[in-house]
Amino acid sequence: MKLLAIETSCDETAAAVLEDGKKVLSSVVASQNEFHKKYGGIVPEVASRKHIEAINPVIAEALEKAGKKFKDLDAVAVTYGPGLVGSLLVGLCAAKALAWSLKKPLIGVNHLEGHIYSNFLYPLSSLPLNKGEMSRANLSRVPSREPRDRGGISFPFICLIVSGGHTLLVLMKDHGKYETLGRTRDDAVGEAYDKVARFLNLGYPGGPIIDELAKKGDPHAITFKKPMIEESFGYDFSFSGIKTAVTRLSGVKIEDLAASFQQTVVETLIDKLIRAAFDKGIGRVALAGGVSANSALRQQLKERGEKDGLEVMLPPLEYSTDNAAMIACAAYYKFKKKQFAALDLKPIASLKI
Ligand code: KG4
Ligand code: ZN
Repeated sequence: MKLLAIETSCDETAAAVLEDGKKVLSSVVASQNEFHKKYGGIVPEVASRKHIEAINPVIAEALEKAGKKFKDLDAVAVTYGPGLVGSLLVGLCAAKALAWSLKKPLIGVNHLEGHIYSNFLYPLSSLPLNKGEMSRANLSRVPSREPRDRGGISFPFICLIVSGGHTLLVLMKDHGKYETLGRTRDDAVGEAYDKVARFLNLGYPGGPIIDELAKKGDPHAITFKKPMIEESFGYDFSFSGIKTAVTRLSGVKIEDLAASFQQTVVETLIDKLIRAAFDKGIGRVALAGGVSANSALRQQLKERGEKDGLEVMLPPLEYSTDNAAMIACAAYYKFKKKQFAALDLKPIASLKI
């Protein structure tokens, strides 16, 4: 069963071909970072135009790397929200045109659901090298190989989705069955990272830059209050206060500032995730979304999980930030249930999980 998935919800134009729900035959991501950099954030109008330029070459490259033709596909999947409407529209138009002309089903996927399913994809680095393959340097150009077993998918688990647009604590009970436990009341975590980086003139996107800088600083140099950590706030989050606190400090070593900001954010996220797991009596937790690429968050959650006897799932790094392989993975389970979309599928900017 082969699925082509398209993802254009934000500023990455992505396409992927997935076989049997877990084998990534190809995953192509064209980043628009260089076009948005000078503005310190995403300019929606620029994003739509760049998607239009990139979409066809990206789809062609995904098929080529997978060694497949359009006729080999069994379905076409696409992100239809949440995201920027103008960006979503480009992916939707391409997916609809393909589904219609190939006479194959169209599958609409929620971007956040896609992020959760990134946990069920295999890291490329874990896959055995094909005979004759000299190194991993050309990995992205090498098509299919058999994945190592990651133990399948079992429910329930609690997933913390942390991205540029969302901070959400979700209890996943089964495929397509979610209960939202908490969310941010203001800035998303990734947004706070990006805004702090913009204020400090560090560049865009800020998350990976602050992550690197923090490695050279003292995480306990500055004490920030963990936002809304009191139990009375439930599982909701708030990150605009700490963002403002960072921007009010002066005369501090920038590495210490980055490390202290990151440590407070990471501890707050992990505390709530672990508390939710214990409150709900669920022994498995997962991370998803662009900020799940954060080295401190990954490392500290792993350590806390070991200490507290919880199973921790982390998405492979290459599928943490926006990509289409995760959209294909979520779509596979919809395909199995024949949950197809009509050809008039519309983009929904604030689609909920
Ligand atoms: O999921 P994603 O690729 O796009 C959205 O759906 O928003 O997430 C992008 C966000 C950005 O805010 C970026 O700064 C953040 O993820 N991010 C990170 C790291 N890598 C990406 N934040 C912290 N540490 C990282 N290593
Ligand atoms: Zn995302």
